Amino acid sequence: MSKPARSSRAGLVAVAALTLGVAACDLGLPAGRAPHREGNRLDMIDQPKFKPQRADVFGGRPSSVLEPPAGAVAADETPYPYLQAEATRAGLELVNPLQATPDVIAHGKFVYENVCITCHGPKGAGDGLVTSLFPKPPSLMTQRVRDWPDGEIFHRPMRGQGSMPSHARQVDARDTWSVVHYIRQMQSQEPVAPPAAVAPASPAASAPASLVTPSAGASASQGQSVTPSTPVSPVPGGQS
Ligand code: HEC
Repeated sequence: MSKPARSSRAGLVAVAALTLGVAACDLGLPAGRAPHREGNRLDMIDQPKFKPQRADVFGGRPSSVLEPPAGAVAADETPYPYLQAEATRAGLELVNPLQATPDVIAHGKFVYENVCITCHGPKGAGDGLVTSLFPKPPSLMTQRVRDWPDGEIFHRPMRGQGSMPSHARQVDARDTWSVVHYIRQMQSQEPVAPPAAVAPASPAASAPASLVTPSAGASASQGQSVTPSTPVSPVPGGQS
C-alpha cells in the first residue's frame, strides 16, 4: 500500500519539475508579459505550447511548423511530371480526362473568368484589363493554339510560359482541363486570330534570359505612364 503511494508521489514531483522546466521555456507571450500564475500553477491561458510559427525552442528548426518530409505529396495529388520546356511532350502524352459536358464547360468558364480573363480577355483575344500594365498575351484564338493538342494548352497554366507565371497553385488539374474545354468552345465560336506580331517564346526558347528582357523592357517603358495615375485610383479616406 505504502509503496504505490510513494511512487505516485514521486511521479507528482517529477510532473511538477517538468512543468516548471517547460514553463521556463517560450510560452509565446508578448514581449515583456510574465506568465500568470495561481500559486505554483500556471494560469491556463499561459500554457507551455507552441504557437503557430513561433521559433522552435527545442530542435532549432526555423519554426514550430513541421515541414513535410522531402518528396511528400498531398493525398490524391499527382505531381505534374513535365518540365516547363516539355510542352510538346505534354501535348503528345496527356489526354484530357474530362468529357466536354455542359457542366465541365460551365466550370471551365467559371475558372477562366476568375483566373485567366484578367490577362487573356473575355474571348481569349489577349485584351484583359491588366494588359495596360502587364505584357499582352497572344490571342488564344490563333491557328497555332487551335492546332495544339489539349495537353499543350493544359501545360501552360501548369508550368507557366514566358511572362505568364505558373497557375498551379490557383487551379488544380480538374480546373485546368475544364478551362481547356472552355477555350475549345470559344475557338469554335470566335474567328481565327492572326498570329501574334512578336511570336511568343517557344517553350524551348523560354530560358530566363530571353524572358526577362521583353517584360523588363515593357514594364520600364510603361512605368512612367503608369506611375502618375496610381495615386488617383485608391482613395482610402476620400470615399466617406
Ligand atoms: C497575369 C496574366 C495572365 C494570366 C492570369 C494568365 N495568363 Fe496565360 N499568358 C499570359 C501571357 C503574358 C502569355 C504569353 C507568355 C509568353 O509567351 O511570354 C500567356 C500565354 C498563355 C498561353 C500560350 C499562348 C501562346 O500562343 O503561346 C496559354 C495556353 C495560356 N496563357 C493559358 C492561360 C490560362 C488557361 C490561364 C488561366 C488559368 C492563363 N493563361 C492565365 C498571361 C496570363
